[in-house]
Amino acid sequence: MILLGLLTLVVLAAANIAPTPLDHCAAIAGKQWVSPLEARSCMHSFPVDPVVKENIIEVVNKTIAMHTSVNYQIQAPKPFDKARYTDVHEDLHKDLARISQQGYQSEFQFHLDLFHTFRRLNDGHCVVINYCYDSLYISYLPTPLVLLTGADGRQNVHIAPEAFAVASTEFGDEIEFWQDSLPGKLKGQLETLNGAEVIAINGQDPFVAVDANALVTGGYQSFGTRQNSFFSSYYRGSNGWLYQMGNFAQQVHPLTDVVKLTIRRINSTSIDIVTLPYRSRFGLASKNFTDSASYRANNCLATNETNGVDMYAVSHSTAQQHSEEPLPVAYFQQQPLISRKEARRHPMNVFIDALPLSNIDLPEVMQPSEPALNESYSVAQFYMLSDNTTGVLALGSFSAANFSAFQYSLLDGLVKLKSLGATQLLVDVTNNGGGYICIAHWLHRIIIGSRSTTEPQAGLDTTTRAGPLAQLIVKKIVKDGMDPDTLLYYNPTQWTNASNIPFSAETEWLEPLQKVSINGHEDVFSQRLGQECQPFDVEAPQKGFFKAKDVAIISNGRCASSCSLFSITMSKLEGVRTVVVGGKQDTPQQYCGIVGGQSTDFSTIDTEIKSVHLKNHTLAPPDLLANIVQGITWRLGYGINDPMEPEEWQDHAADINFPLTMETVNRPIAIWEAVAKEMFSIATPPPLLVQTFD
Ligand SMILES: *[C@@H]1O[C@H](CO)[C@@H](O)[C@H](O)[C@H]1NC(C)=O
Ligand SMILES: *[C@@H]1O[C@H](CO)[C@@H](O)[C@H](O)[C@H]1NC(C)=O
Ligand SMILES: *[C@@H]1O[C@H](CO)[C@@H](O)[C@H](O)[C@H]1NC(C)=O
Ligand SMILES: *[C@@H]1O[C@H](CO)[C@@H](O)[C@H](O)[C@H]1NC(C)=O
Ligand SMILES: *[C@@H]1O[C@H](CO)[C@@H](O)[C@H](O)[C@H]1NC(C)=O
Ligand SMILES: *[C@@H]1O[C@H](CO)[C@@H](O)[C@H](O)[C@H]1NC(C)=O
Ligand SMILES: *[C@@H]1O[C@H](CO)[C@@H](O)[C@H](O)[C@H]1NC(C)=O
Ligand SMILES: *[C@@H]1O[C@H](CO)[C@@H](O)[C@H](O)[C@H]1NC(C)=O
Ligand SMILES: *[C@@H]1O[C@H](CO)[C@@H](O)[C@H](O)[C@H]1NC(C)=O
Repeated sequence: MILLGLLTLVVLAAANIAPTPLDHCAAIAGKQWVSPLEARSCMHSFPVDPVVKENIIEVVNKTIAMHTSVNYQIQAPKPFDKARYTDVHEDLHKDLARISQQGYQSEFQFHLDLFHTFRRLNDGHCVVINYCYDSLYISYLPTPLVLLTGADGRQNVHIAPEAFAVASTEFGDEIEFWQDSLPGKLKGQLETLNGAEVIAINGQDPFVAVDANALVTGGYQSFGTRQNSFFSSYYRGSNGWLYQMGNFAQQVHPLTDVVKLTIRRINSTSIDIVTLPYRSRFGLASKNFTDSASYRANNCLATNETNGVDMYAVSHSTAQQHSEEPLPVAYFQQQPLISRKEARRHPMNVFIDALPLSNIDLPEVMQPSEPALNESYSVAQFYMLSDNTTGVLALGSFSAANFSAFQYSLLDGLVKLKSLGATQLLVDVTNNGGGYICIAHWLHRIIIGSRSTTEPQAGLDTTTRAGPLAQLIVKKIVKDGMDPDTLLYYNPTQWTNASNIPFSAETEWLEPLQKVSINGHEDVFSQRLGQECQPFDVEAPQKGFFKAKDVAIISNGRCASSCSLFSITMSKLEGVRTVVVGGKQDTPQQYCGIVGGQSTDFSTIDTEIKSVHLKNHTLAPPDLLANIVQGITWRLGYGINDPMEPEEWQDHAADINFPLTMETVNRPIAIWEAVAKEMFSIATPPPLLVQTFD
């Protein structure tokens, strides 16, 4: 929050302390918890190295040539053109030119400018993240917030009722720091803040802070979804139920020192003002250091994994193809860690955030008390509600460690729910950042059954950007036979044309090129591509498990990438209803965001370039010198309602914005029961957009 103001303060502070000979990094070396000021004093202590700065800008600039959305994002079309709600209008090339010219007091300041430039895209596929600065220290408060609706229908921001349970378990002894920081009679009484109404944040209406955060948090086009990111929520992880603190109580950079909350505690008649300091914790992927030199050496320099490799160089081929190690970008992908091997085998579409996925547990009392069905696997958990008619699939991701086991689990779980008598299905995709594209297609196909909307294409047609370097890579593969083992994404044989016919190895598949003008810029894309998922490895039953009218998809709006592919096809093609929980009443809520089509990252593109020996080409990005990952959208899905334009900027308005209460918030079972009651008691669902034939 209020990042820009604080940034200025920090810069001034850095300018004042710059001449001191202190090693600010040595001062905090080995400490698990530090103050934000201590962390940023260390992080601001490195001047810009002009060679590194130029290298980063060159790599980033040349890599976005493969990002599909650059020209759209200069000014996103309707409904994402409105200043208040979404406002995607970021000209990356213009800003990179500005940043290239601009001087900075520290490398951290330079990085923050670059980082926020990409965040303004509000596109969780296209980001620049530096292991040297982002989530190196994560700053926390023990008071995550929630937005609740009272019996009178009015919405208020509250401290989460579970705040103390979460914080005291997760932060251990550090909780004493916050206990001691409370004023007067509240000292040591942190638990009594649970559920308190938040009347003001830093003396202003709480939504001033919520909306300020929405302007910088990035990730989703929709303003409402970015508002929701401020609040805490839950997530179904591969090993259990997890808790997301939300942007208020968990921050990527140590830029905020304290927050002043004006609160009314439960059963209290008085109004209390508490000033809570943030505390910064050493990140899970951060590398130990003893001083500035080792901080830099261990965290800031490119590693042997930062850049791509020539897959056909003897030293790399085996290591790359069989590696169980995830790519460096995987740490920030909002899905369970997936091995390089599995990621290469199954194309992904996944949200990248500057905060790694939370590993904070959802308090046990809030988790579903009945065990999930035995057919559950990893992020996919099946439950039967006590009404004996509503089946639930809690799906935290479209990726899991074993693709095949995951695919079987989704099928077997639905079979089991039906056999237990389920006649309606809730799919909870809260905080689902996407994952395997073909799992999204699979789930759509098996829930709905065999229909023209699910076979052969159960997802979206796509296109990829086809600039000169992309065209050259394809030529090297097709004409010069430089990918004999079919290891590369630019190889034609894994893709299909708009009739879903696979390309032969001789096809220069980007062509015929689609030349378009976007926001006054000439751009060029490949021909329209069909689906590559079917036939599936597992046989899908002919008949669907549930009628579309008996299915509802529920989330906090944070359903991205492959989760969008699934939700959009289910909603727009089948008429499945969508529910966002806990959104602000007067803000339009989108049931998903950042659709993409297939996402990738710099190192993967670099591998394509190196493997066809184009690294020396003037358009090829050089090797990165810094410990950076860059995400991009590599394929972009075409729309359903407007099939000639990207789905990315078409409307995904949720059918219902479902209010959360003190009793239901962050309790999955309570939410499912309340939503099921509301959704499935409605006699007539909205009309379907496409006629069903079954
Ligand atoms: C890093 O430091 C922490 C705490 O000082 C220690 O527990 C951990 O083992 C160290 N990690 C490595 C890889 O040295
Ligand atoms: C980025 O690349 C474009 C070509 O795509 C070039 O015109 C521009 O000068 C580059 N910008 C910077 C800052 O290097
Ligand atoms: C608030 O008061 C009600 C009624 O006396 C009581 O049931 C409830 O436990 C109290 N809650 C808290 C957090 O003290
Ligand atoms: C990078 O180096 C580490 C440690 O030396 C090694 O385990 C890993 O296999 C290397 N990765 C690659 C891609 O060479
Ligand atoms: C589910 O698995 C557990 C543990 O393996 C087992 O005890 C239980 O009987 C199984 N339940 C059913 C319905 O198969
Ligand atoms: C659901 O089924 C269980 C077990 O068969 C039964 O005990 C329970 O009463 C049923 N609940 C409802 C609401 O019908
Ligand atoms: C993945 O799951 C499949 C199907 O359940 C199983 O046959 C296979 O052995 C699993 N692979 C691994 C590496 O565990
Ligand atoms: C796809 O390829 C097949 C076989 O070459 C061809 O018959 C068909 O017209 C192509 N479809 C499109 C849309 O280009
Ligand atoms: C790039 O050019 C250099 C110098 O001309 C040459 O030594 C090198 O082999 C080239 N690399 C590739 C991958 O073509």
